[in-house]
Amino acid sequence: MTSDQEAVAGKRRGESGTDTNSAPSVGARRHLLSVSDLGAEGIEEVLRVADAFVEVSKRDIPKVPALRGKTVVTLFVEESTRTKLSFETAAKRLSADVLSFNASSSSLKKGESLRDTVETVAAMGVDAFVVRHSAAGAPAAVARWVDTCVLNAGDGWHEHPTQALLDCCTIRQVLAERDGRAPAETGVECFKGLRVAIVGDVRHSRVARSSVLAFGALGARVTLVAPGTLLPPAVEAWPVAGVSHDLDEVLPQTDVCYLLRLQGERGAGRFLPSVREYAAAYGLNARRAATLADGALVMHPGPMNRGVEIADEVPDLPGSVILRQVANGVAVRMAVLFMLLGTPQGKSPAGAVAGLEDAWETSGA
Ligand code: NCD
Repeated sequence: MTSDQEAVAGKRRGESGTDTNSAPSVGARRHLLSVSDLGAEGIEEVLRVADAFVEVSKRDIPKVPALRGKTVVTLFVEESTRTKLSFETAAKRLSADVLSFNASSSSLKKGESLRDTVETVAAMGVDAFVVRHSAAGAPAAVARWVDTCVLNAGDGWHEHPTQALLDCCTIRQVLAERDGRAPAETGVECFKGLRVAIVGDVRHSRVARSSVLAFGALGARVTLVAPGTLLPPAVEAWPVAGVSHDLDEVLPQTDVCYLLRLQGERGAGRFLPSVREYAAAYGLNARRAATLADGALVMHPGPMNRGVEIADEVPDLPGSVILRQVANGVAVRMAVLFMLLGTPQGKSPAGAVAGLEDAWETSGA
């Protein structure tokens, strides 16, 4: 390693000797494990870089050479459709090589430990692990075991930071569009006082944990709406404006209605007398959606349980931005991969994107 490379690696390991009270930029970080790693400034930085990749995604050939020569492993030890494909698409659009780990056909099935598996894959020479696991803390453990970047793609009930980032990106994009402005022009002002209701199985939701942190950091007023049994223990300590058990009362004061899936695989059914009654009290249908504040957005991280937290007709309502969330997920994951793996020393991530864009334009590729 040259001394420059050492410096970059050290910086990424947080050894730069910078003031630890000021949050280092995302490019100076080594991992993305929690939204709280970012703070408001870090989130805004990701959104700015993601905007550039939203533009890239619209091109005929939506690909840039930013991570050529880097290898990204998607280590998913729990089911996933959109997050895994989204990360893999993002890495490929950055020209990285992708190793897609399939837990069900791996040596984990033969009893190999997660640590041995991770160390084995790392020995092949990889630059980043994107980790999903049913155990909270698994991505943090991977980050201790190997000397590569680690991105949390959802760990147990703990966190799902890129979901929260793509949600912020989507809200900002839609609100900016309505004002006839570019998202960058609006900054994060649009979040100040935005009334967000997070509805449903908050107790088992890593999405809710990350989104509450992200929306709250940007100044939104979050209300959790759920039956008492589906609220998390110690909900009083959550940084939210309120908690309600009455969806109909909350909807008229809601600008963003964020629905959560009832997490059957985590035993959510045991916390309810009946799923039918839950759907009747907490499911969003077209009649209820019509009572939302003017211009309100309806969001869902997917996968949806149609007929439970969301009625069949709701994803097609004009206020629904559920597929936009999916589309923006690719750009946001391109942004975080690029910021962790590809930002040249001395350049802000956004500046590096601009440089990259120039190189791309002039190469005629
Ligand atoms: C979520 C997840 O897996 O945490 N989905 C996703 O990643 N988009 C939400 C869920 O499974 O309910």
